[in-house]
Amino acid sequence: MNRKTIPVVTALLFATVSLAAAAATVSLPKGYAKWQRSKQQVVTDKKSLFYGIHYTYVDATAMKAFKKGGPYPEGSRFVVEQFTIRDEGGKPVPGKKSMIVLMKKDKRFKDTGGWQFAGFTPEGKPSGLDPVKNCYECHLKEAGDRDLVISKYSDFK
Ligand code: HEC
Repeated sequence: MNRKTIPVVTALLFATVSLAAAAATVSLPKGYAKWQRSKQQVVTDKKSLFYGIHYTYVDATAMKAFKKGGPYPEGSRFVVEQFTIRDEGGKPVPGKKSMIVLMKKDKRFKDTGGWQFAGFTPEGKPSGLDPVKNCYECHLKEAGDRDLVISKYSDFK
């Protein structure tokens, strides 16, 4: 390594550390399990990101807007808990928890339409997915006209 490359390496290291710090600061909202919960949603298309069984939790701030299809007030939150599918005598039932995702309306997140997107492991640790490439682009395509929220209240109950 010569002298010239050192500042570049330092800058790269710094970028990595600050990104990791940003990812580490996101945490799952405490008590989301007490929010209004959707009925069980079963997705049997193996190509889908949501292949499995999931439940969507909606907080009180988001609920009013959810019934109208958006737009959402600052602070609105959605959490999805994803499970594998277990076959119980031909009936699909939730298996192991496989993933948790969060959307929180926060105007600081300009690159992702004013929502914070975050993915978590089943234990609730940030999984470090890229919120633009791994989340926002699909949500924009599916629900650009509903403030990026894809699920509908009519499917919720
Ligand atoms: C390939 C498309 C796609 C990608 C990528 C994607 N999602 Fe979604 N997301 C969906 C669909 C479809 C639903 C609605 C599922 C339903 O109808 O219950 C959804 C629902 C959600 C919800 C519940 C609120 C809503 O919009 O209905 C949250 C929260 C969420 N996703 C977060 C994320 C996060 C965080 C990421 C990135 C780690 C992500 N999603 C990546 C397609 C996607």
